[in-house]
Amino acid sequence: MEIKAIRGFNDILPDEVGKWQFVEEVAREVFEGFGFSEIRIPILERTELFSRGIGEATDIVEKEMYTFTDKSGNSLTLRPEATASMARAYLEHQIYSFDPVAKLYCIGPMFRYERPQKGRYRQFYQIDAEVFGVGNPMVDAEVILMLIHFLKRVGLEKLELQINSLGCRDCRPLYRGELKKFLTEKSFQLCEDCQRRLHTNPLRIFDCKVETCKEAIADAPQVINFICNECQGHFNQVKGYLEAAGLGYVLNPRMVRGLDYYTRTAFEVVSYQLGSQNAVTGGGRYDNLFQEIGGLDIPGIGFAIGMERLVSLLPKDKAFVRYPHLFIAAMGEETIKEAYRIINQLHLQGIRVELDYEGKSLKSQMRRADKLKAQYVLILGREELKRGKAILRNMESKLQEEIPISDILNVVREKVKGVEQGNRDC
Ligand code: HAM
Repeated sequence: MEIKAIRGFNDILPDEVGKWQFVEEVAREVFEGFGFSEIRIPILERTELFSRGIGEATDIVEKEMYTFTDKSGNSLTLRPEATASMARAYLEHQIYSFDPVAKLYCIGPMFRYERPQKGRYRQFYQIDAEVFGVGNPMVDAEVILMLIHFLKRVGLEKLELQINSLGCRDCRPLYRGELKKFLTEKSFQLCEDCQRRLHTNPLRIFDCKVETCKEAIADAPQVINFICNECQGHFNQVKGYLEAAGLGYVLNPRMVRGLDYYTRTAFEVVSYQLGSQNAVTGGGRYDNLFQEIGGLDIPGIGFAIGMERLVSLLPKDKAFVRYPHLFIAAMGEETIKEAYRIINQLHLQGIRVELDYEGKSLKSQMRRADKLKAQYVLILGREELKRGKAILRNMESKLQEEIPISDILNVVREKVKGVEQGNRDC
């Protein structure tokens, strides 16, 4: 029986990969421009990093983690997100001893055992950016600014930035109490999980997808009305900085995010071009996470962009595939050897070159060059070779010219430069 990929785990095929590379390149350029450095962290971590970091009573930890016991009896988990791992690495390697402020980003796959549907997978990729060590609301605004700048640079339109404040350790208990009181009266409407959450973590009832729970929580009190003066002041400053930068936002008092570590600023960027899974990015401040995972009292803020959702929103008319610059059509032993000499020189110049391996006729080599969407074909015939010449054909205009073999490198380099410049301009 043919072996197929696991449900919710996708192959990203060569004709799609150009988009992914483009998005990653822009992320690196934009983030590094804002002073961020890349960090690469393991895919597997000790389970307790996530149960303590994300929160025991969250959907992710309760239901969605790929957890197993290794041969030494350790409980390990495929990372469902990157924030906790990045915080662990910052503590473990004492990155704060060099400079307490660290701006880090990472790109890679995450794993959650969710019900797969369009825009929701069991392995999905995130681009994640975090700032550790600053509690100042200026940073909240800067991180959001960088995110929006990045999304614009990749060409996304019709996005909505939604923000909320989730309060802090001091004011959240007051809200939790009010919410519990409100939901206790409606507890008959709640599913079994939410009945339990009512006692362990009532905020998580907002994440429940069961219709009756959604109805029960529809008119629940909103956290923004319970935050303390300090949190209100922080939120006002974040909004002020966003306004100063000319960034539009929408207040979404119902957004509580699905992870327990958030404090104060929370935000999402949604696209109305996506279906029910419309959040392209989620993020926020988490000033207690470091302590939860056994570290120091260090504030943090960041976001993660879902790459599958982002890539699905890229403009359809933009070319992301890197086609060959040149196809060399060579016939006969002698000319193939000459082609190899030329190819070697062209590759050293970063020119993308393709060749026929099967000794086919000129006609079928031209057909293949066309199929591969090569920009130029260099025809190396025995007769031309004797005269030290080759024919260069522009596959778009169909114009051909004879050029001296000794000039090939210069001529091709110049033409390719023109094509690349043209691509960048459009
Ligand atoms: P999150 O909201 O769970 O936050 O995920 C962030 C983004 O990842 C979502 O907005 C979505 O685009 C994408 N995503 C999440 N789950 C899936 C899935 N099953 N399939 C496809 N895409 C998905 C976090 O992960 C936080 N760590 C974000 C953060 C960073 N907060 C502070 N720093």
